[in-house]
Amino acid sequence: MSAVEPFDAVQVIAIKRDGGELSTSQIDWIVEAYVRGVVADYQMSALTMAILLQGMTRREIRDLTLAMIASGERMSFADLGRVTSDKHSTGGVGDKITLPLAPLVASYGVAVPQLSGRGLGHTGGTLDKLESIPGWHAEVSNEAMFEQLRTVGAVVCAAGAGLAPADKKLYALRDVTGTVEAIPLIASSIMSKKIAEGAGSLILDVKFGSGAFMTRFDKAKELAKTMVALGNDAGVTTRALLTDMNVPLGFAIGNANEVAESVEVLAGGGPSDVVELTLALAREMLDMSGLHDVDPAENLANGRAMDAWRAMIAAQGGDPDAAMPVARESDVVRAPRSGYLAELDARGVGVAAWRLGAGRTRQDDRIDHSAGILLHAKPGDWLDAGQPVMTLNTGDPARFARAYESLDGAWRIGDAAPEARPIVVERITS
Ligand code: URA
Repeated sequence: MSAVEPFDAVQVIAIKRDGGELSTSQIDWIVEAYVRGVVADYQMSALTMAILLQGMTRREIRDLTLAMIASGERMSFADLGRVTSDKHSTGGVGDKITLPLAPLVASYGVAVPQLSGRGLGHTGGTLDKLESIPGWHAEVSNEAMFEQLRTVGAVVCAAGAGLAPADKKLYALRDVTGTVEAIPLIASSIMSKKIAEGAGSLILDVKFGSGAFMTRFDKAKELAKTMVALGNDAGVTTRALLTDMNVPLGFAIGNANEVAESVEVLAGGGPSDVVELTLALAREMLDMSGLHDVDPAENLANGRAMDAWRAMIAAQGGDPDAAMPVARESDVVRAPRSGYLAELDARGVGVAAWRLGAGRTRQDDRIDHSAGILLHAKPGDWLDAGQPVMTLNTGDPARFARAYESLDGAWRIGDAAPEARPIVVERITS
């Protein structure tokens, strides 16, 4: 280490290891020195493990977030001439909400710059879903993004490498060192990117339940509160909805089939849970944008949201009328007896869809856009013996066996309908 470095990595690690509080300058330095390569991966992994075990104060989490923002570019929509609002979901099974939500909110004149990611593991990625549409591309330059926001009002695209590069490096390290599940690290990771994006307001869809990244409600709530405070402290009006992810959202889990389901919602139909969550998130985004008395259901019913969707897809090279990929192989799961669908576990179904080819194991894996699961029933629905419960779709029949392993025990027919559960469980504004 050079003699001019103001701190020593071992000393910083030891403070956190022993339960101490890091100063702003220690946090600024370690993030900056890590990006510079002066602090080694093995030192940063020791620090992230110490953070996971000892936690961080609100002030430390804010400093960590600001240090990660400072590692890269910060976007600004000040010259756009429109109010901007953004959304982030912590991810779930069948979570296609961004697809109807972005054009719906844009149809009211609010600009929605939605920098999204790809899926890894059993939760899908918005960009993977949209790439099912022939011709559609996720890469958009900053100039093209501004132009699209001006003309169409919504853009869903890949984040450039310039936003919070410290997070990129740190997240890759956490992934292989068992340190992903620390609330200070998750909150700073998500919020550094969202604050750097520069939208005026942000709605967070923080999921809990078997198909979510945070399974426990209390942990999801703590994460939501931490992120809402970080956003508001940084000048981005931020709220969160805590939403149930024990059951897949909608009937479609995959990529092309999720786009088709989103188009149904934009056409004024679609599954009730997808519509309910889309409207709940849209109301928050519109309200934070100053549109307090708007009922977003209107623009789903009158076609304006659909017009915005078609313009948004076409602006990125996609053909909104093109035929979507169809799987070569299908297999139908049938009810072994009559009864209510008593249980349908989001994680089991999500992993099965992933194993059919809808998701990737490594960042460079190819997705089968036609693969996935189409549900024919949701918990509480009555099924006669032999009636289809779900259809499995894939391009490679060798994938069925592993998908069935994941579905084993993931659904159950019972004699009583389970209690209906609300999707939105709590709203956090501070
Ligand atoms: N998503 C992120 O961007 N960062 C995390 O740490 C977890 C989920």
